[in-house]
Amino acid sequence: MKVIVTGGAGFIGHHLVKYLVQLEYKVYIIDNFDDYYSPQRKRKQLESIGYSNHYQLIEADLLQEDQVHHIFQKIKPDIVVHLAALPGVSYSLENPHAYIEKNIEMTVNVLKAAGINHVKHVVFASSSSVYGDQKNVPLMEEMANGKVISPYAASKYSAESFCQAYSHIYSFQLTILRFFTVFGPFGRPDMAIGKFISKLLRNEEITLFGQGVSRDFTYVDDIVRGIELAMKRKGENEIYNLGAGHPVTMEELLLELKKFFPHMQVKQEKYRLGDVSATWADISKATKQLGFKPTVSFQEGIKRTVQWAKEYEV
Ligand SMILES: NC(=O)c1ccc[n+]([C@@H]2O[C@H](COP(=O)([O-])OP(=O)(O)OC[C@H]3O[C@@H](n4cnc5c(N)ncnc54)[C@H](O)[C@@H]3O)[C@@H](O)[C@H]2O)c1
Repeated sequence: MKVIVTGGAGFIGHHLVKYLVQLEYKVYIIDNFDDYYSPQRKRKQLESIGYSNHYQLIEADLLQEDQVHHIFQKIKPDIVVHLAALPGVSYSLENPHAYIEKNIEMTVNVLKAAGINHVKHVVFASSSSVYGDQKNVPLMEEMANGKVISPYAASKYSAESFCQAYSHIYSFQLTILRFFTVFGPFGRPDMAIGKFISKLLRNEEITLFGQGVSRDFTYVDDIVRGIELAMKRKGENEIYNLGAGHPVTMEELLLELKKFFPHMQVKQEKYRLGDVSATWADISKATKQLGFKPTVSFQEGIKRTVQWAKEYEV
């Protein structure tokens, strides 16, 4: 089975490639080592997969429509997992146009190339941010209503619509996966857990924005297993939440980190614009239809992430 993983050098991408290679998929990574965060770090992420003749790196910019088409034409993949994107809520407030370009235009290039080259199944990485700031939790798939609160979320919600349109035009099967705050080794350095741990390792103060904010932190191995389960599904187009299904407040996160960093210093700031107050995935649809079952607890995930950071980040 030939699979293109766009953004395969990224945080989730390289974990996914490592998993797929073990399962003997033939994987083609398309990534341009974008500089949203360190490209060197992305190279390290790829190196951590280890040697395997089951994957190949194609260094290319997905914004180059002709190039994307030629790559798809040459590989003729069965499945495309489209992870490449410009992530991050705060940066999207400063630079919204980049999100339209990366998360919408780039997605259209991938969808068109997939359609023209008869890809059977497109799996799109969307986000819990598409639910906006809702009071009713847990969040079920049908609760996304377009009332998003950041340009990042707007770009993901729009990209979901383009996925639906191109699936209709070219008749490929579509699966949209909405990930809930993913963490683990090589976690993105702009996200809370990654940022906190690297500051704590340097004995620096960490900043907490808002009070009582909670996230459904999900360990990356569970996300990767969920993606592979989704890749194998057959049938109608579907949207699934992939999350732990257990929200954790930022205060609880700090208490967990304190076990490893007892001298932690915390500065409190007010809410940041664009951040939702709570995320909590209702994963019953993914559990029922995909057999998705998170296996790594929050405590175990934090332990593994801190262990990794102590080895890698210092
Ligand atoms: N990490 C999370 O908690 C989370 C939560 C919800 C959704 N998501 C989504 O999951 C996907 C993966 O996220 P991640 O955390 O691994 O991010 P990441 O930034 O680590 O990975 C994205 C990858 O896309 C690549 N890329 C960007 N622009 C490109 C271009 N023009 N051409 C080719 N490659 C390009 C980057 O170089 C990077 O390697 C994204 O779509 C993101 O929006 C992530």
